[in-house]
Amino acid sequence: MKQQASAATTLVRDPVESPNRIQVVFHHPTTPIIKDKAPESLGETVRTTASDPLRLIIDELEAMIGLAEAKRVMYEIYALLRVNQERAKHQLKIEQQVYHMVFKGSPGTGKTTVARIFGRILKEMGILSKGHLIEAERADLVGEFIGHTAQKTRELIKKALGGILFVDEAYSLARGGEKDFGKEAVDVLTKAMEDHKNEFICILAGYTDEMDDFLMLNPGLPSRFPIQIYFNDYDVEELMQIAEQMIAVKQYQMSTAAKDKIRVHLHKQKSDPFLDGFSNARYIRNMIEQAIRVQAVRLLQTGQPSREDLMTLRADDFVFSQIQF
Ligand SMILES: Nc1ncnc2c1ncn2[C@@H]1O[C@H](COP(=O)(O)OP(=O)(O)OP(=O)(O)O)[C@@H](O)[C@H]1O
Ligand SMILES: [Mg+2]
Repeated sequence: MKQQASAATTLVRDPVESPNRIQVVFHHPTTPIIKDKAPESLGETVRTTASDPLRLIIDELEAMIGLAEAKRVMYEIYALLRVNQERAKHQLKIEQQVYHMVFKGSPGTGKTTVARIFGRILKEMGILSKGHLIEAERADLVGEFIGHTAQKTRELIKKALGGILFVDEAYSLARGGEKDFGKEAVDVLTKAMEDHKNEFICILAGYTDEMDDFLMLNPGLPSRFPIQIYFNDYDVEELMQIAEQMIAVKQYQMSTAAKDKIRVHLHKQKSDPFLDGFSNARYIRNMIEQAIRVQAVRLLQTGQPSREDLMTLRADDFVFSQIQF
């Protein structure tokens, strides 16, 4: 009813300019599929218009801390899908896009996790038939003798059909120069991307600088991977939020002193100019798992622990010297 009312015409008399003329004002119904909203509320629009199963997976993506670019790309794909559905109703051409992607970022910034969620979302959207993720690295693609690489790469692509082929540390395929079989793997892969158009999505992942060099050295690649997503390093507050989230999922909590200790430690780590390869959210996961073990030993020595004791990780449970980067 509301829409009908806003779609109606209104008769307006302009008594000053032309007292005898009647102006007809058309009020168009304004219910576009994706409204022109600020990026932070775009996720909300997507959530409210998505089907229930899709919303559940989008919620998982939305719950991840940071990752603005990855979220934006997924919302764009969703918007296009919905707009295509509307275009189909009007017998308009449907825009078919290529969804091969490059994920660039430091260790532990969520590349593999996001790829897995993307697979599930794209399946729910009907873009992929299965949505599974096949993870591969150089050793899975490159063989040891002539013909072996093509065979290995083709087998992996076959497994990935209907889902995502996620090639980690993709730049290692350029290792060894012209004579190396890595180049052959890239050639087979790019050919398969043409032959099996829309049957699988290939994501090349790796550290930013190495990926940029790799793409520059293979001029044919960037145009085949039109979506490039940069995964930022997390700042201390984001790492704290990730820690809170991981701990809550495990039904633990941190004391205030523990939080303060972690925050100070992370500031120190992140400002250390000699620290190389800080593994972002994976470091947080390792830190928490280690603290849980230390707490278990502490509790074992204190007799009957209360529910509160069992849940609480104290400052002295966090022993940073032993955590793997
Ligand atoms: N934004 C986030 N919010 C919550 N947890 C996260 C986030 N990003 C990463 N994680 C967690 O951190 C861990 C490492 O993430 P993941 O393996 O996806 O990183 P990666 O970028 O693939 O790392 P690598 O480059 O080393 O392969 C996972 O346990 C993941 O769940
Ligand atoms: Mg990974």
